[in-house]
Amino acid sequence: MRILGLKEEMRRACGGAARPLGLVPTMGALHDGHLSLVGRCRDDCATVAVSIFVNPAQFGEGEDFAEYPRDLDGDLELLRRCGVDLVFVPGAAEVYPPGFDTWVDVGPVGERLEGAARPGHFRGVATVVAKLFGVVRPDRAYFGQKDGQQTVVVSKLARDLDLGVEVVVAPTVREGDGLAMSSRNARLNPEQRRAAPVLYRALAAGRGEWERGERDAGAICGVVRRVLDSEPLLGGIDYVSLAAPDTLEELVVAAPGAMLSAAAQLGVVRLIDNVMLE
Ligand code: PAJ
Repeated sequence: MRILGLKEEMRRACGGAARPLGLVPTMGALHDGHLSLVGRCRDDCATVAVSIFVNPAQFGEGEDFAEYPRDLDGDLELLRRCGVDLVFVPGAAEVYPPGFDTWVDVGPVGERLEGAARPGHFRGVATVVAKLFGVVRPDRAYFGQKDGQQTVVVSKLARDLDLGVEVVVAPTVREGDGLAMSSRNARLNPEQRRAAPVLYRALAAGRGEWERGERDAGAICGVVRRVLDSEPLLGGIDYVSLAAPDTLEELVVAAPGAMLSAAAQLGVVRLIDNVMLE
């Protein structure tokens, strides 16, 4: 496994690597959700590249950039065991050198849901992903359904800017009690950790209504809200949404493929999760 910190080195290593080459972009503090993407990439591609970069541009003021969990040694050990070929670990000045001024504006799809709560977040995500694609020039890139809106934004980015990268979306990996794995879960105290699966329970209850024939989006979201309201430790429900899978516009009538998602505060952690209606 080669570990590279400079764009030029990484570009050269990727240029000479066996194809197809797959990229798994991450912010580190790796868990089984990340590793499932690496495994999928390993199955599909001759070369597996992983990036680890806590991207300051996607954190808003007052968000948890400084507190975001970091464990580079542990991450590299996990990646070594997964048979990763190339790891790109650039410093902030390597990604955003002085004079950096070009940003990717993803349009309305980045302004809803997470984008409404975190203005500029998807501009930061799209910009760093475009830059990683530019350095690595992968054939495929792997993203988790856990961050459902991110998969929509990144797929659109690749399509709209003709980047020539196939975006592959892999299922959400969950703990035994349903909680979606997330690097941020490490910041929940034991009591909050016990309460956290309520988010998935609520979404699963909403999906259950759909499966029983309910088609009214308000009714489905109402069920999700009622389950969330039953958990006193939740600090606030940011949104419950039933949205079209490609535009993320809110639906009035539920339809197959729609994304049912929610965000809520639990202690210092903003939990997000989603399920798809089949
Ligand atoms: P990060 O939160 O580290 O996640 C890296 C990738 O792992 C993302 O595609 C995310 O959706 C996926 N992932 C996280 N938890 C998962 C889970 N429980 N199951 C399946 N996949 C999961 O997302 C980012 O970093 C950044 O925004 C990034 C794309 C790297 C750009 O900076």
